[in-house]
Amino acid sequence: MKAEGRHFETIWLKPGNPAVVQVIDQRFLPFELVIEDLVSVEDVYTAIRDMHIRGAPLIGAAAAFGIYLALLQGKGKDSPGEWLRQKAQWLKSARPTAVNLFSCIDRVVRAVSAEGSLGVMQERALEEALKIVGEERESCRKIGEYGLPLIEEVSRRKRGEPVNILTHCNAGWLACIDFGTATAPVYRAHEKGIPVHVWVDETRPRNQGSRLTAWELHQNGVSYTLIADNTGGHLMQHGRVDMVLVGSDRTTIRGDVANKIGTYLKALAAFDNAVPFYVALPSSSIDWSVEDGVSDIIIEERGGDELLYSDVYTAGEWKRYPIAMAESRVLNAGFDVTPARLVTALITERGLCKAEKNSIFELFPEKKPKRL
Ligand code: MRU
Repeated sequence: MKAEGRHFETIWLKPGNPAVVQVIDQRFLPFELVIEDLVSVEDVYTAIRDMHIRGAPLIGAAAAFGIYLALLQGKGKDSPGEWLRQKAQWLKSARPTAVNLFSCIDRVVRAVSAEGSLGVMQERALEEALKIVGEERESCRKIGEYGLPLIEEVSRRKRGEPVNILTHCNAGWLACIDFGTATAPVYRAHEKGIPVHVWVDETRPRNQGSRLTAWELHQNGVSYTLIADNTGGHLMQHGRVDMVLVGSDRTTIRGDVANKIGTYLKALAAFDNAVPFYVALPSSSIDWSVEDGVSDIIIEERGGDELLYSDVYTAGEWKRYPIAMAESRVLNAGFDVTPARLVTALITERGLCKAEKNSIFELFPEKKPKRL
């Protein structure tokens, strides 16, 4: 996708130096476009934990490259295989909710585990990481294709008036690999000349909406309006939202959706106002081992400073300002789970399905357990 007039991938190898992985450091957006070099598994861990990069598909892809970088660091280790397993375990502890972190690490470790020499392990790890990137990009593209008719239908019904889409957090190309998940149908509609307008939730406390989604849409010429997190219900009551379209950090086999904190409240408001609530997700963020999202998905709790202070990047430096009493006790849950019954449909790379077990397994029969 485009940023400042240039085409960007979401994660890539440094041209001329395949031992360096590059990403956009999202902490600086929208104020500055900073490219970060990741040269070790420790760099990848920090980038994920401290949210230089974020969003389930990108976290997964970065972690896959993290395993590759760990192998590049593995020279001279007595038992590179054992050392890699320890690093992999540690990398998994960077954040708890996005399932891609765990599945991508396991996938790359599995791909290299049968190899004897470190050199071949490195090659295999790189191949696998690049394959993950390619698959994610293709998934996002297809989500765009499958989501487009939903927007087209509303546009027809409204006789060409702009289709108003509410989104939460950032499930755009910064979070995924190109196009985004929730944003993919929007970009596709915009490309086709269908008038679309996005209500962008601010997404406190990290402001992924106001800082990232707004920036992305602006860079790509899509009309949007920034709203405070609590505005969605009001807009829905007044017929100003045609659909809600969000992403997912982890979806269970019965269609419960873990996503950025506040998503559940949007789903409740959408249900109350008969506004369709769609979740766009690549199958890489389905956790095939979990059914009940409310009880079985670990919800990240982040530090209280995110609510007590505001970090502002200005004139090339970060400044921290208090925005609450420092003594306040804080609970900062990063995600919530929207129960399947509130989800109108899931938009996946294989098409649309209901948020329910049978419908999900119809699209992904190879994932169906022998006895269901
Ligand atoms: O904490 P983050 O920014 O990593 O959380 C990301 C989200 O929750 C996004 O809303 C997104 O939908 C999931 S990743 C496409």
